[in-house]
Amino acid sequence: MSITVAKRMAAAAAAIAMLMSFGAMAADEQAVDEEAAMALARREDCLKCHAVDKKKDGPSYKSIATKYKNKPEAEEKLVKHLTTGPVVKTAAGDEDEHRIPKTKDEKELRNIIRWILSR
Ligand code: HEC
Repeated sequence: MSITVAKRMAAAAAAIAMLMSFGAMAADEQAVDEEAAMALARREDCLKCHAVDKKKDGPSYKSIATKYKNKPEAEEKLVKHLTTGPVVKTAAGDEDEHRIPKTKDEKELRNIIRWILSR
C-alpha cells in the first residue's frame, strides 16, 4: 500500500470516528421523559423487582447504569433484553424469564432504558 493511500485511509478513519462521536452525543442529548418512564415502570410492575438504588429481586437501576456505563451498545442491548424476555436469575437464586412489557411502543421502551441508564 502506498503512503498516500495509507494517509487517506487514516484521514477517513478519523473522520468516521468523529462522526460516530457526534452520533453518540446526539443520542445522549435526547431528553429522557422521567414521568413517562416512571409511569411505565409502575404500570408494567417493574418496581416489584427493581428500585432505583436498592437491590430487590432484580438489581437496582443504579447498578444497571453502572454496569453499562460507557458501553455504547447498552441501549440496544437492554431494549432487546426487555423485548425478548431472557432467562434471568433473581436475588433469591431462582431462574425465570424476564418480564416482557405489554407495550410494544419502541419509543416508550427506549425512554425507560435511557432513564435507567441515566440513574
Ligand atoms: C419478577 C421480577 C422482575 C420484574 C417484574 C422486572 N425485572 Fe428486570 N430484572 C429482574 C432480574 C432478576 C434481573 C437480573 C438479570 C441478571 O442480572 O441476570 C433483571 C434485569 C433487568 C435489567 C438489566 C439487564 C442486564 O443486562 O443487566 C433491566 C434493564 C431491567 N431488568 C429492566 C426491567 C424493566 C424496565 C421492567 C419492567 C418492564 C423489569 N425489569 C421488570 C427481575 C425483574
